[in-house]
Amino acid sequence: MPTRNKELWLSLLTAVIITAIYIFVVNWYHAIPAAGDFFGHIIGVIGFLLMLMTETLYSFRKRSRKGRWGSMQFWLQFHIFTGLVGPYMVLLHTSWKFNGLAGATTLLTIIIVISGFIGRYIYTRIPRSLDGIEITDPGEATHAAGLARTRRMLSIWHAIHIPIGIALFVAAFIHIGAALTYATLLR
Ligand code: HEM
Ligand code: HEM
Repeated sequence: MPTRNKELWLSLLTAVIITAIYIFVVNWYHAIPAAGDFFGHIIGVIGFLLMLMTETLYSFRKRSRKGRWGSMQFWLQFHIFTGLVGPYMVLLHTSWKFNGLAGATTLLTIIIVISGFIGRYIYTRIPRSLDGIEITDPGEATHAAGLARTRRMLSIWHAIHIPIGIALFVAAFIHIGAALTYATLLR
């Protein structure tokens, strides 16, 4: 497996395995699994837990001063892995119906994943140590204008990516509360 984009290859492999299980379930029941049925629920819950991990763990590690629990590089790779596999499972949970708030939550999920790819592209343009600390090269003066522009782009990107994440989780919690109350508990 290529080591450069390891997290992307691992995500792809996991998505292929999940798709195989999904196709098996569709063939077994001769129907698309409904979002509120056992299988639909399970993939929704696991996918959402992975998304919650995406939202929180990398930020915790980034702000941890001691930093004894794994390199930043590892945690960003883990962020990207859970940030791809989680939304993919949630997409299969939707049963391909996108009405109302749940549909809007799905749209926000897709937007944050696309935004993540853009952020990953900008992030990797900035030279860093294994622990994510920016490396300032002594000869930076020669290409400093380009690097300064990339840093500015990353901070603008942060200012967009983070509010989308917050809006997504607010919408997701309302959807989960409403879906569990009306479609599961009061059924
Ligand atoms: C970001 C995470 C999630 C998204 C984007 C999402 C999206 C959706 C969508 C699009 C539907 C179909 C709505 C329709 O019929 O038009 C749906 C249904 C449903 N979701 Fe989610 N979901 C998420 C997480 C969850 C979680 C974690 C749970 C459970 C704890 C859950 C429980 C349900 C249930 C029970 C239904 C069926 C509702 C019904 O039968 O009317 N969802 N979801
Ligand atoms: C459920 C999906 C996702 C959520 C909720 C999410 C959320 C976040 C949040 C809250 C941050 C800010 C971390 C911080 O500075 O404290 C962040 C940063 C970042 N995310 Fe995501 N993300 C998701 C998916 C992705 C994906 C799929 C990718 C790449 C393909 C990605 C790449 C990045 C990158 C490169 C950063 C910047 C790291 C840095 O500047 O330190 N994200 N994400």
